[in-house]
Amino acid sequence: MEDFDTAFKRVARLRQIIEEANVAYYLKDSPTISDYDYDQLVRELKELEQEFPELKVPESPTEKVGGPLSRLFTPVRHVSPMMSLDNVFSIEELKEWFQRVRRGALHLEASNHAEAEFVFEPKIDGLAISLVYEEGVLTRAATRGNGEVGEDVTANVETISVIPKRIKFPRGANHLLEVRGEVYMPIEAFKDLNEQQLVQNKPVFANPRNSAAGSLRQKDPKITARRSLSFWSYQLGETRGGPNFTTHVQTLEYLRDLGFPVSTLISLTTSETDVVQKINSLNEHRHDLDFEIDGAVIKLNDLKLRERLGTTSRAPRWAIAFKFPPEERITRLKDIMVSIGKSGKATPFGVLEPVFVGGSTVSLATLHNEDQVKLKDVRPLDSVVVRKAGDVIPEIVGPILSSRPPDSQPWSFPKVCPMCGGPLIRSEHESDHFCINYRCPGQIVQRIAHFASREALDIEGLGEQRVFQLVSAHLVADPSDIYKLKIDDLLKLDKFAEVSAKKLIDAIEESKSRPLYRVIVGLSIRHVGTTAAIKIASKVKSLSALLTVKASELSEIDGLGEIIANSVVCYVQDPVTRALVESLVQIGLGVATSSEVPGDNFEPILSGLSFVVTGTLESFTREGAEQAIRDRGGKVTSAPSSKTSYLVVGANPGTSKLTKAERLGVRIVDENEFLNILERGNLDKVG
Ligand code: IVH
Repeated sequence: MEDFDTAFKRVARLRQIIEEANVAYYLKDSPTISDYDYDQLVRELKELEQEFPELKVPESPTEKVGGPLSRLFTPVRHVSPMMSLDNVFSIEELKEWFQRVRRGALHLEASNHAEAEFVFEPKIDGLAISLVYEEGVLTRAATRGNGEVGEDVTANVETISVIPKRIKFPRGANHLLEVRGEVYMPIEAFKDLNEQQLVQNKPVFANPRNSAAGSLRQKDPKITARRSLSFWSYQLGETRGGPNFTTHVQTLEYLRDLGFPVSTLISLTTSETDVVQKINSLNEHRHDLDFEIDGAVIKLNDLKLRERLGTTSRAPRWAIAFKFPPEERITRLKDIMVSIGKSGKATPFGVLEPVFVGGSTVSLATLHNEDQVKLKDVRPLDSVVVRKAGDVIPEIVGPILSSRPPDSQPWSFPKVCPMCGGPLIRSEHESDHFCINYRCPGQIVQRIAHFASREALDIEGLGEQRVFQLVSAHLVADPSDIYKLKIDDLLKLDKFAEVSAKKLIDAIEESKSRPLYRVIVGLSIRHVGTTAAIKIASKVKSLSALLTVKASELSEIDGLGEIIANSVVCYVQDPVTRALVESLVQIGLGVATSSEVPGDNFEPILSGLSFVVTGTLESFTREGAEQAIRDRGGKVTSAPSSKTSYLVVGANPGTSKLTKAERLGVRIVDENEFLNILERGNLDKVG
């Protein structure tokens, strides 16, 4: 594909970039490129070295493990080399690996080929550690370093409570035992640490891996001790005088018996299809775990076969890492702008050089508010870490300070609204700025789009862009105007034909029968989301009654509170918003008929109960199940706590939710029991 000269230059450049990235990652615990980009560079280098074998050299990063060692720690030679893992990024590549392993195994031992067993493990995103026990006592802990020689971090590792300092020492066994695994920082601990860093005006860590590495590789172990580090073991290293094993699973059971934490997500299988399913399920549930993973590791179970397959200079042939798509990338922040929400909230966001992250191309990411921009010290033209995990909106984690342009200037919050030019006001004790002009076109579009959104009036075909089109054509200026739209009005606009116009008008008409609480959600009253709206609806029973409700009546409602009560009363007393409610009443929205008020439709039989739903249910979507709980007065939260009444478990549940519920003694119910609860209420109810 390339001529030798071009390849020669590119190989030299790639090696330089990779070595620089290694220094930032391994020495400074502060990467300058994302793991994903790093893997891509290594892959490109590998491919060029394959195409031009004369460019291969033993010092190439493709032949080596890890990076340079820090002078802060004493170098220690590993009992046996600590290797890395080869990566695959797709199921096709994984299948090729299976083939290579089976071919290797078949070639060496025909009878074993069909039955090859594989162990499936989460790939924990932390840092690899070797623990050496002599006569049952932890005598040395070392980082992986360059694979041959690591950094002595014994004193730091001794502060990690889940790592045994002494192990059972059966007579005549384990004169020396080496355990390998990953030191990591649980996600909650990482968030707490970053909050503290911010308060103390110190730089935040971009992710739990960096914070684990930065916390473990401290000169002063007292700092490590304060950092809530944890550990998973996944590999038995060198043993001298110890029991002999034939499979990897046996070694993991042995480690568990000795008191080492071994993940319950590890499982054994012979089927490739099963491995693929496990990969998909792990990827889907990766955010249910309280630690970060960046993929799965698949290992051959039979230790003899492993030995026969052997290793390359940097990784074993008997194991492979399947890397999940990246959730964090680094890209250029082109600018910081401000968006105006439905209640006028001004949210700063970054305009990015588009980047593929978390399964889609991202070009905008939130910066939350003025304080966050200041604390993170994010500036236009910085290189920034962008994170998009699961369903969460993309976020700018922080800048890469080492690549900041010399003339960079801090960003300051604009004084005026970018949509209407009115002032942006930040009140005392508030972290947000607001545009206070109710007629601001930015707010109008957001307010109407919210009114039509799924959680409110659910008007199909009336998304933000359509609303923008209608507002720009001066056809609508507040949510009640959409009920005045005629087919002919729409036909005058771009992108509307007879069918689409009729469809929208029908959808608008149909929305008139939505339950009262959804209309209340649609009003964009500050602090009033679905939960509060349901409570308000069951109290006032009709939209017209909302106009005369008193704050004292609302704050009587269990769990509503004064702030929400006052916000509702202010809303209905303000002439402008009051006029909107009156128009909606006139149109016939939110009337009290039994089928439209959730409190009348369903008995509040789950009131006082709190639920967490995990996994896939057969008769509900996740949202449907949660709505069914709320309809009956129950509460839904995202993770089990001591206050949770039930964990509802469907297929492929989140393991950490299950473990947490078990630990807290939360009652775990399957779909059938859940259906019973929806019908009859609390299972413990007498009678
Ligand atoms: S086994 C010779 N198992 O991934 C095989 N490694 O990218 C040694 N890692 O250096 C590693 N989870 O730090 C293994 N379940 C797991 C792992 C795991 C995370 C890390 C480890 C390794 C790196 C390679």
